[in-house]
Order: sequence, then C-alpha cells, then structure tokens
Amino acid sequence: MKVTVVGAGNVGATVANVLAHKDIVDEIVLLDLKGDMARGKALDSWQQAPIDYYSSQLSGTDNYKDTAKSDIVVITAGIPRRPGMSRDDLISTNAKIVTSVTASILKKSRNPIIIIVSNPLDVMTYAAHVSSKLDRTRVFGMAGILDTARYRAFLATEIGVSPKDIQALLMGGHGDTMVPLPRYTTVAGIPVTELVEKDKLKAIVERTKKGGGELVKLMGTSAWYAPGAAAAQMVEAIVKNENRIFPCCVNLKGEYGLKDVYLGVPVTLNRKGVGKILEVNLNKREQKLLHNSAAHVKAVMKTFDKMNKK
Ligand code: NAI
Ligand code: 2OP
Repeated sequence: MKVTVVGAGNVGATVANVLAHKDIVDEIVLLDLKGDMARGKALDSWQQAPIDYYSSQLSGTDNYKDTAKSDIVVITAGIPRRPGMSRDDLISTNAKIVTSVTASILKKSRNPIIIIVSNPLDVMTYAAHVSSKLDRTRVFGMAGILDTARYRAFLATEIGVSPKDIQALLMGGHGDTMVPLPRYTTVAGIPVTELVEKDKLKAIVERTKKGGGELVKLMGTSAWYAPGAAAAQMVEAIVKNENRIFPCCVNLKGEYGLKDVYLGVPVTLNRKGVGKILEVNLNKREQKLLHNSAAHVKAVMKTFDKMNKK
C-alpha cells in the first residue's frame, strides 16, 4: 500500500511519522511546495526507523509524479489558523490549494481514497469532492476523531480515569457549532452522566467546542499531534479493513434529514473508504443542534460556490 501526505507542515509531517510507526504500509510519500522541507522531514522520519523498528519507506518530494498509484492520500496543505482567526477565515486561500492539489493527485492516481484535513474542514471536503468527482465513499474529512479525542481527554482529566476507557460520540461541523453528545458518552460502559455533574459536563462540552481555539491561543498556530494521529488512525482503519466506527465528515444525502451538506457523522471505515453511515437516534434538542451546525456549514459552502463562479 502507498500513502501520500500532501503538506509537510506540522500536521502532514505528524501524519507521516505516526503512520510510519504503525508499520502497516509499504510506502509513505510526503509532498510539499517546499520540496526540501518535505525531503528533510521524510529523511528524518526514515532515520528514526532503526530506532523505533518500522519498515515503511518514507520519501519527500515536490513532484506529483512521485505520488503515482497512491492508494490513500491525506491532504493537509494550506494555511493554519492564527490567533483571532476562525477556521472559516481560511477559505479563500485553502480552497484554491485543496482544489489544485486534488486535481494534481488525480492525474497520477486513478481512484485513491482521499482524506481531507485542511480547514475549514467541512467545506474543504466539499471542494475536494467536487474537484475529484470521486464517489462520496472515497473523499471524506478528518475532524470528528480529533474533536471527540479532545472531549474524551477533558473527561478523563475530570473523572481521574484513563482516556482509554472513555467512549464518546460527537457530530456536526468542525467548528464552534459541533455537537458533543453526552447521551452517547460512556466510561467503561457507565453513562457519563452518572460520574460527572451536569454543570461540569456542560463546561466540558463548551470547552470541547472551542478546543482548537484554545490551542491556537497557546501556541500561535493550530494543533498537530492529535490531528496528525487522528488522520493516521483513519488510514490505519482503511488499510487494515477494520470497519472501525469514527465520526468523519461526509457528503450527506438525506441521512439525519440533511442533504447537500458535508458534516461529521459516525461512519465505518474499511478498505473501500466509508462503508456505512450510521444513523443514531437523536432527541429533538440534539437534532436541532445538528441542523444548526449543518446550516452553518452550508453558509460557508455557499461562500465557496460564489468564489468558484468568479
Ligand atoms: P503548516 O503551515 O504547518 O503546513 C501546511 C503546509 O502546506 C506547508 O508546509 C505549506 O508549504 C504546504 N502547502 C501550502 N500550499 C501547498 C500546495 N499547493 N501544495 C503542497 N503543499 C502546500 O500548517 P498545519 O498546522 O500543518 O495545518 C495544515 C492545515 O490543516 C491547516 O489548514 C489547518 O487549519 C488544518 N488543520 C485541520 C485540523 C482538522 O481537525 N481537520 C486540525 C489541525 C489543522
Ligand atoms: C483544530 O481544531 C485548527 O482545526 C484545527 O485544532
């Protein structure tokens, strides 16, 4: 199996490095406009292989010919948020980048699975899907694993347990309108509402929604360790044909009563990409929050449509 990661910045280099450590693919190509940086980071990761014991071959490039016949492509190219910016502020720059990267990838790989990471995530998934014309099961976005991980990490700290034991579901767009779902959150099988007081849970939900911004404030740029690991986990589920369930951003065609929108919902991931889209029961309040999130994403999709017409 061959995986290409486009963008060798903070997130892309982390995806490549975490994926190499999993030792599950033959080849990882790291591509960036800054070719020497991509070559340098790939070489550095390759030199880690004898220490950490993996065999996946890493190489860096700025030439799409080296990405030929990729099975999976992770797109992280684009600018990240700076303090004071929302993810949506990135749209004009990143839409052009994601659209052109997708077109270049498809010239060399016929039917890859494409995982989008660049922000604003839901709308960049839309841009790549439109540009690629691939089936919706083969173009989807990473955000839900990251947002759920933040929620799970906050809960683990609050309760004083291992994050391994926290299972949770979070849906919606990758922004402040995302919808963490305490009703679908358990701690080793125990409903979270039995272990965390209502007010504390509410505060954790709010902190999760702004989790990306919290890190931008601390670091002056957006996060990369958890985002990189999240994208690598998606690649792993695909390569190993695991049918694992993760919240991923997909094109909805009627699921949850929503159409023509790209939104985070629970799906299974396997060798073909998205297997099933799972429709869980939502109560009226949860449904309202999800539809509100969809409306927000749709508004940003419209901005993209207008830019595309110009
Ligand atoms: P970064 O600035 O460290 O890296 C971005 C890289 O993209 C740079 O090396 C740049 O040279 C490269 N690039 C730009 N245009 C390119 C092109 N046309 N072709 C190839 N490479 C190109 O940024 P970072 O922190 O890695 O973030 C990347 C993107 O991922 C941002 O849009 C950020 O907002 C997003 N992100 C999304 C997350 C999510 O949950 N979906 C989480 C974290 C970041
Ligand atoms: C994050 O949530 C900025 O989307 C990026 O960290």
